[in-house]
Amino acid sequence: RGGGSGPAIGTDFESVTPNTEDAVVIPTGYRQQVIIRWGDPVVGDAPRFDFDHQTAAAQEAQFGYNCDFAGLIPRDALGQDNWLVVNHEYTTEPEMFRGYDPDDPTEEQVRIGWAAHGLSVVRALRDPVAGGLRVVPSRYGRRITVRTPFELTGPAAGSELLRTSADPTGRTVLGTLNNCAGGVTPWGTVLSGEENFNQYFGNADQVTDPVAAERLARYGISGGASTRKWERFDDRFDLAVEPNEVNRFGWVVEVDPSDPDSTPVKHTALGRFKHEGATIRLTEDGRAVAYQGDDERFDYLYKFVSRGRMVPGNTRAARRHNMRLLDDGTLYVARLTGDSPAEEIDGSGALPADGEFGGTGEWVPLARGDRSLVPGMTAEEVYVFTRLAADRVGATKMDRPEDVEANPVTGRVYAALTNNANRGAAGSAGPDEANPRAGNKHGHVLEWEEAGGDAAATTFRWRLLLVCGDPESPDTYFAGFDKSQVSPITSPDNLAFDDHGNLWISTDSTGALGINDGLYVVPTEGERRGELKLFLTVPRGAEACGPIVTEDLVTVCVQHPGEIDGSSAERPGSDWPDGGGANPRPSVVGVWRTGPGGRGVGRIGR
Ligand code: FEO
Ligand code: CA
Ligand code: CA
Ligand code: CA
Repeated sequence: RGGGSGPAIGTDFESVTPNTEDAVVIPTGYRQQVIIRWGDPVVGDAPRFDFDHQTAAAQEAQFGYNCDFAGLIPRDALGQDNWLVVNHEYTTEPEMFRGYDPDDPTEEQVRIGWAAHGLSVVRALRDPVAGGLRVVPSRYGRRITVRTPFELTGPAAGSELLRTSADPTGRTVLGTLNNCAGGVTPWGTVLSGEENFNQYFGNADQVTDPVAAERLARYGISGGASTRKWERFDDRFDLAVEPNEVNRFGWVVEVDPSDPDSTPVKHTALGRFKHEGATIRLTEDGRAVAYQGDDERFDYLYKFVSRGRMVPGNTRAARRHNMRLLDDGTLYVARLTGDSPAEEIDGSGALPADGEFGGTGEWVPLARGDRSLVPGMTAEEVYVFTRLAADRVGATKMDRPEDVEANPVTGRVYAALTNNANRGAAGSAGPDEANPRAGNKHGHVLEWEEAGGDAAATTFRWRLLLVCGDPESPDTYFAGFDKSQVSPITSPDNLAFDDHGNLWISTDSTGALGINDGLYVVPTEGERRGELKLFLTVPRGAEACGPIVTEDLVTVCVQHPGEIDGSSAERPGSDWPDGGGANPRPSVVGVWRTGPGGRGVGRIGR
């Protein structure tokens, strides 16, 4: 296959040994630093973090909980001065508050939870002496929370399905929820996916209309009281009172960090599901293509292609134009077909006779602008209940599609498929060539090339790059590389590329291999294609997410350190990063190489 991009670079370090340390473990010759942690100041006058005296007012000015995606947007040509934008996916109140009673949360605890969700925007400077990234006070410091107004845009904005008593126009939503992965756009904004929004809405069991109930069920919204009991303090989280509020979550949001007064938007044209994130690449003629995963067992991969073209340049007018690109275009879902006989895909993970899990794919259109392409559904229904539209066209049920990223060197596209222990279980879809293992505990990584290298193409060829797990296990595959030379990996989640086309993969395993989660790198071309190496591991109970990989700095979000069964603020599962028995704090960590000869900064992995 192709190759030709020269020797693998960016991977020249000694792999970290898999471990269960309560620490961020990095290779020899590298340094690390916490860039920002839960409770650190974001907005100018934020008070000092005080674990035992938290307030909602303080949290509204401080870095939120459970950082997931991070995007670094340079403000100068050298990337010395940047905006750092970070998602706060969710809260774990038992670990945030001493003596928390899940059956009877206080209003202040609930309001702190609202303020700890959303996003943070800060200004961050590269530190030429120490080598890391330093957050500095600035007028750009901004917290977006569950109470920040968002504008709904695109073809479903204003739809009856999106109207509530507080917003009879269906165009303004308060807040964003469960922001998981995301992407930096070529026009300098940040996209962020609203993922498991289902968990915040109570009293689904009081919805009796069968159509409404079917829609709720398809999105995993069920039961009586919600986990956090927000519906006790704001009616909009009570489905019995405000049945449409839930339809206003599950979107991709866009934030402009350059304008702290801007109203962030929710793009209805990208569809509504448990959005892991959205990442943008441009077609040759400047249209924006958004790749998206719906992170649920047996859910789908999506692509959106804009009608309009990006206007280059950094002016306000250009950004205003470009921030509308994701409001008009065509939304597609993926259908994958294997090229080996079905009987050779037996669920064991054994390779078929042609030596590869692979085949062809097509992007099936669901809607274009305000026109539905799915029989029996209106365009508004396709956008708001996208999962039901994709069900109807026979999209391929995948093993939890998460982050999707295009390789900047080759143009090939990669998707992390985290895992799916239910593959092949009674009543569920069985193995197929794109999801070849029954009871898939460790996930895999899909690779494809769009026909003709055109990002807007409607067909593609695909293959599996990695079938994850313990390399000693026969059901794993590392692109044919010598398995005695690779690191064990389970549950790939977020993806990033360095400028050399090496794929960086962070994991979210909940202990499936008995080792801490981490950040890995694998060359995708040349003779070292498949040589997966472990670059760092995160503390006990934490998930590694939101990697940023620049030429001389890697950052990773350490999400939910200490989140171990039965942990609480009284019995935390970790004391990272503060140590000394302190409660753990989700944080963004920077890692860089210390160069030889006393120079403080080296290039990552060169
Ligand atoms: Fe929030 Fe799919 O991970
Ligand atoms: Ca095959
Ligand atoms: Ca994720
Ligand atoms: Ca996660």
